[in-house]
Amino acid sequence: MIKPHGSETLNPLYVVDETQRAALLKEAEGLPSLVICSAAAANAVMLGSGYFNPLTGYMNVTEAMSVAEKMALPNGLFWPTPVMNVVKAEQVTDDIRNAKRIALRDPNVEGNPVLAVMEVQAVEKISPEQMKTLVEQTFRTQDTEHPGVAAFTSVGNVALSGPIQVLNFSYFEKDFPGTFRTAWQIRDEIAQAGWEKVVAFQTRNPMHRAHEELCKMAKEAVNADGILIHMLLGKLKKGDIPADARDASIRKMVELYFPPNTVLITGYGFDMLYAGPREAALHAVFRQNCGCTHLIVGRDHAGVGKYYGPFDAQAVFDDIPKGALEIEIFRADHTAYSRKLNKVVMMRDHPDHKPEDYVFLSGTKVREMLTAGEALPEEFARPEVAAILAKHYQSEAGE
Ligand code: ADX
Repeated sequence: MIKPHGSETLNPLYVVDETQRAALLKEAEGLPSLVICSAAAANAVMLGSGYFNPLTGYMNVTEAMSVAEKMALPNGLFWPTPVMNVVKAEQVTDDIRNAKRIALRDPNVEGNPVLAVMEVQAVEKISPEQMKTLVEQTFRTQDTEHPGVAAFTSVGNVALSGPIQVLNFSYFEKDFPGTFRTAWQIRDEIAQAGWEKVVAFQTRNPMHRAHEELCKMAKEAVNADGILIHMLLGKLKKGDIPADARDASIRKMVELYFPPNTVLITGYGFDMLYAGPREAALHAVFRQNCGCTHLIVGRDHAGVGKYYGPFDAQAVFDDIPKGALEIEIFRADHTAYSRKLNKVVMMRDHPDHKPEDYVFLSGTKVREMLTAGEALPEEFARPEVAAILAKHYQSEAGE
């Protein structure tokens, strides 16, 4: 199987041994503690799950700046986005500042239980110039209308850094018991299935005909043994469809329209960054960590609004030094249903087509139709998938 990023074996930061975990939890109850932000909690879940291998904890400011500016840590390891624990200055009490170890509490679970224990190596103020660089390099914009920029710049300006030990996976195991997986669980499932080549499909959206066919085309093109549908289960911007409705619709699509035993439906616990190219590169890192040989990167991957060009997330891979990653990228063109050919095609393969030869529906139009109880064209969405989404939108409209 493909090796993890940056090490021979996967070193997840979750404390697997139960006795050790109980002891750590006991220690944590006596440590100075603070409630971290959702992004930092999601980073802890990703570190705990092995997806962020070989990182050992939160980056300090020098490391985060290096990653933002060069897509590499000072030690040369390829890494595309800052992985930080940023808090507000008023949260940093003397207790926290002087502690060797602190407990990090979960903002997303009632009662704020301890999510991880951190060895405090540095408590650093992020200067306005540093914040500007971190944001500009990661998101290619400073615009606080960008949901990722808004999240990054609203949580404070003090970076707490150092190695962590992770005690649980926040709300993800409980809320998505059939779907949430750690990286090592996916590696185990791939090994059990006997797959050598695995193509990963990143998604934060329900899957329509174009996405279904994209997965099938990619599998065939790279001659993969299986497909890993790997969905984001964390926080999204307003208007994005929540993970439970998306999960149900994807399961139905796979059950009805894919050959048996060719797809693993899974998810990971991370908040969407909407960082386009940089997030695509991060996606490649953590798909390699969970044992995939290929990642599909299509149109406007991890994008939002008009901040990125439709294929910027593919171009970023041209800037990654050769050999930095082992996973390969399947670069997909815009896929859409062709009325002329009566099937979903990649537009680059059909230069003779005019725009009106394709069935296009914007996300807004889809939402409006489903809320109004109108059927989506079968060329666009499988009817069983549309029915699940319609139920979601109508219950939302009724609230
Ligand atoms: S993402 O933010 O998680 O990337 P989304 O779930 O919409 O968003 O997309 C999942 C993957 O499918 C991404 O690689 C994206 O580029 C690709 N994709 C979505 N729609 C299309 C399309 N019509 N044509 C080509 N690629 C697409």
